[in-house]
Amino acid sequence: MKIAIIGAGAMGSLFGVKLSSVPENTVYLLDVWTEHVDAVNSHGVLMELGCESTTYENLIASTDAASVGHADLAIILVKSTDTKQAVESNIDVFGPETTIITLQNGLGNVELIREVVGGKNVVAGTTSHGAMVLGPGKIRHTGAGKTIIGELDGSQTDRIKTITDAFNKACIETNLSDDVMSAIWGKLLVNAGINALAGITKCHNGELIEHPELMELLELAVLEGVEVAEAKGIKLGFADPVSRTKEVCMATAKNKASMLQDILNNRKTEIDMINGAIVREGNKLDIATPINAALTNLIHFFEKQR
Ligand code: PAF
Repeated sequence: MKIAIIGAGAMGSLFGVKLSSVPENTVYLLDVWTEHVDAVNSHGVLMELGCESTTYENLIASTDAASVGHADLAIILVKSTDTKQAVESNIDVFGPETTIITLQNGLGNVELIREVVGGKNVVAGTTSHGAMVLGPGKIRHTGAGKTIIGELDGSQTDRIKTITDAFNKACIETNLSDDVMSAIWGKLLVNAGINALAGITKCHNGELIEHPELMELLELAVLEGVEVAEAKGIKLGFADPVSRTKEVCMATAKNKASMLQDILNNRKTEIDMINGAIVREGNKLDIATPINAALTNLIHFFEKQR
């Protein structure tokens, strides 16, 4: 399968190395970060996992989608702040038969991709893997987790089964869901509880549940999101999203959440697709989401100071 990964940051590179380990795949990493592209083409991707490092050389990196041409599968893994621009500038990989899957954080990515390429080729998913970039051509796999993918209408098409098989064959443990929006909202709620709070307080994930005053904000942010999700008719995949969020804090206790990493590195954050999205969806339904609004405003304030 010819696979183009749009966005070769931590997650894009992680999916890239895993998929490139299956001989029948040809994997292209597309990114604007030229140092990374050059490093991948000269030495491959070095991935650290625990105390081990492995180099994966079977990938081709490029800044130029035209040189790659139409892919069978395009995986969108840019930050959700860059979705539309990344899809527009990599338009040459999307042919009439290309299936496009977004595995990005937050809400709204499907709609942004569809604005550029139309609706019928887009499917979606979410992944719980953790990874970070260590430098050009170098990443660390910080935690393994499940990937859940599906057609937006829940149908079990051949193409979604093919992607599920391709991911599992590459040791990306993947479940095919008939309700992928439930999985996307599940991850959104966890991100809404952890990310902004970590970005504002500069705490590691584990510390957020060690301090009662932070834990209360985490709980309230998630519960507001649950109210909005339920009003939208989203069936959440786990009974208690607050406990689930705390479990993720424990499981990733030593990690800096992605939004904290963005703030520390003076990058734009995904706040508008996470807590900001809960506020927007709440407004449409007349549901007050004051904690998510406050978290969103505070992160916007940090972004303004970049
Ligand atoms: O965005 C992140 O950092 C991760 O999704 C999560 C779950 C918050 C853990 O750090």
